[in-house]
Amino acid sequence: MDTTVLHTDLPKLIIKNKALLPVVQGGMGVGVSAHNLAGNVALLGGLGTISSVDLRRHHPDLMKQTGQSRDKEAINAANLVALDREIRAAKQKAQGNGMIAVNIMRAVADYAAYVKQSCESGADAIVVGAGLPMDLPELTADYPDVALVPILSDVRGISLILKKWMRRDRLPDAIVIENPQFAAGHLGAATIDSVNDPHFSFSVVIEGTLALFDQLGIPRDRIPLIAAGGIYTPAQVKALLQLGASAVQLGTSFAVTEEGDAHRDFKRVLAEARADDIVTFMSCAGLPARAVRTPWLINYLDKEQKLQSKACPKDCTVGFDCLHQCGWRDGNAKAGQFCIDTQLAFALQGDIKRGLFFRSAEPLPFGSAIRPVRELFDYLLNGIHPQIEQTSHPALLMQSA
Ligand SMILES: Cc1cc2nc3c(=O)[nH]c(=O)nc-3n(C[C@H](O)[C@H](O)[C@H](O)COP(=O)(O)O)c2cc1C
Ligand code: SF4
Repeated sequence: MDTTVLHTDLPKLIIKNKALLPVVQGGMGVGVSAHNLAGNVALLGGLGTISSVDLRRHHPDLMKQTGQSRDKEAINAANLVALDREIRAAKQKAQGNGMIAVNIMRAVADYAAYVKQSCESGADAIVVGAGLPMDLPELTADYPDVALVPILSDVRGISLILKKWMRRDRLPDAIVIENPQFAAGHLGAATIDSVNDPHFSFSVVIEGTLALFDQLGIPRDRIPLIAAGGIYTPAQVKALLQLGASAVQLGTSFAVTEEGDAHRDFKRVLAEARADDIVTFMSCAGLPARAVRTPWLINYLDKEQKLQSKACPKDCTVGFDCLHQCGWRDGNAKAGQFCIDTQLAFALQGDIKRGLFFRSAEPLPFGSAIRPVRELFDYLLNGIHPQIEQTSHPALLMQSA
């Protein structure tokens, strides 16, 4: 395999003085972006992101110790060991190229411990979504070389973070602007009905953020903006760079690459899904989420109203208490009524019947083909589309129903 850094004539994304490819690989849990995907992205000169959620699932020895355990402390400790191993393995794979980031959801109970561990294990950047990381500068104060990158969806959220961080003399090293109308996984909108709200559109948020920088006295080129959600063509990349973004971030398209850390059937479910297979629903984390209508999700959505009408507080299904607020455990009828950790772990293993498969709303660059990361970069950055024989797959979802 050719392992040299990929060339592009497009302007580089600069974070902490490091020049990176202007296409970023977003963090994807559970285990979908671990050391292999992130390390290979960085090797080519990109920003590769490990998702910190429940990484012990990639380590049989840690699963042997904790797979049946209901000891929260032991599960959290195993996950920190797994995170440490994944960061070190990704950095080794990257051979000093690119950057390795860790994505940590603010909504996760052990968020602060994941932040500390990531810094200690040598992550180059911490990327936080699913909530406002107001306290991130304090948590990372001992590691000034680690880049801090919040994921936000509107100008209001960006303004809150900037004003709070500026009081601590810190600015984000980049901001990911994720559009809930198109992105995969948890979406940065309060309700399902509001995900298409025009105030989330890239043009409104990018222009509004640049105006906010002017108001706050921040030079316009000081904080790179990274647009995420529904991007799959080189024309979109160019248009967003022209609009004022310094880079774009993709999730689903990286999840289905050869190097993606999930099972091959996970990739096939995402890659073969058609527009009407994709649905937006409420997650137990209390946020809308987007996924493929696979057998478990169809069945759950059929029963959702009934489950919500009976919602009541109960013990965490697996004793892990992964979320600060879990609609299923806490009995919050407005949120999803299932254990997301269990369903995402099934998906990672390629269990089509029982898994929950997060996916964006848009088509993918190579249709249903699973291709290497290098080709994805070469297409988005240089417009080089590989020769792909599009086989018409027997619909994987139908087979498993
Ligand atoms: C399978 C999957 C899991 C994801 N998990 C996370 C996550 O744990 N944290 C996060 O901030 N974003 C997560 N995302 C969102 C991506 O990082 C990315 O921002 C988003 O998918 C971009 O939209 P796209 O899929 O249209 O490219 C996930 C996306 C996918 C496809
Ligand atoms: S029941 Fe809720 S808090 Fe417990 S592991 Fe599942 S998603 Fe996490």
